[in-house]
Amino acid sequence: MKNLLTIAGSDSSGGAGIQADLKTFAAHGTYGMSVITAVTAQNTCGVISVQNIDTKIIAEQIKAVFEDIVVDGVKIGMLANMEIIDTVTKCLAKFVPKIIVLDPVMVSKSGYNLLARDACTTLIKNLLPIVTVVTPNILEAEILSEIKITDKETMCIAARKIYALGAKNVLLKGGHLKNCADDFLLTQNSEYWFKGEKIDNKNTHGTGCTLSSAITANLAKEQDIVTAVANAKRYVTLGIKKGLTIGNGCGPVHHFVDLYQKAGMDE
Ligand SMILES: Nc1ncnc2c1ncn2[C@@H]1O[C@H](COP(=O)(O)OP(=O)(O)OP(=O)(O)O)[C@@H](O)[C@H]1O
Ligand SMILES: [Mg+2]
Repeated sequence: MKNLLTIAGSDSSGGAGIQADLKTFAAHGTYGMSVITAVTAQNTCGVISVQNIDTKIIAEQIKAVFEDIVVDGVKIGMLANMEIIDTVTKCLAKFVPKIIVLDPVMVSKSGYNLLARDACTTLIKNLLPIVTVVTPNILEAEILSEIKITDKETMCIAARKIYALGAKNVLLKGGHLKNCADDFLLTQNSEYWFKGEKIDNKNTHGTGCTLSSAITANLAKEQDIVTAVANAKRYVTLGIKKGLTIGNGCGPVHHFVDLYQKAGMDE
């Protein structure tokens, strides 16, 4: 079994962040571990407040995991400020995991700011160059590339700009474009479009966390980057289709569609 680590924030409602990552790891038959960088009070309607975790205990969590367990892949989610980004970067530079997937969480689906704006430069300069793949959504890609994205053409331009900042692979997610759920992958040698059908379902809480964790699991299972993304996209698409109507706002994607079907719990 592959052992995967998520370094991210906790979502009290269980649909995104650490909770989505661990569910996704489990759904992929991998063993999930977590380093919590922030505790968010949130539900399906929005984020109420955020408490960042002290960098000392963040570093100690990472050290505790790496000194004892073989880590086959790391997914990074919410890192709220410069100090946390620096701490995580230094720890990963020391332990050098083979796979790092960076989901550069900046704003929650409900519009809550999750990354201090001045921290963006640190993220680009220090963290971006050591990751295997970075997975920004449209807004995050606009901030990273300083390009306004309005369509698939501007998605390509922004992805190239982010690649030029030092990322080895860039997956720019198109989920926030109107009538589009196509994602664009830029690697050292090639460009790929992953076609997605736009699903009319409000239960999309945690799509980004889920996609990046699924990519981490697939890469750890030695799938090449294109196959890893294609399979992860298929997984998240099914999860959105079967999204769970929980709470009064945007419910979570369904992380265990296959498992529940096998258990006769579908529908
Ligand atoms: N309504 C939808 N129908 C189909 N696919 C979608 C839809 N919304 C998002 N996706 C897909 O889900 C994946 C995650 O993309 P999205 O743009 O939602 O990430 P995100 O904004 O980072 O999510 P989050 O708000 O969880 O951080 C992408 O593959 C995207 O194309
Ligand atoms: Mg996201």
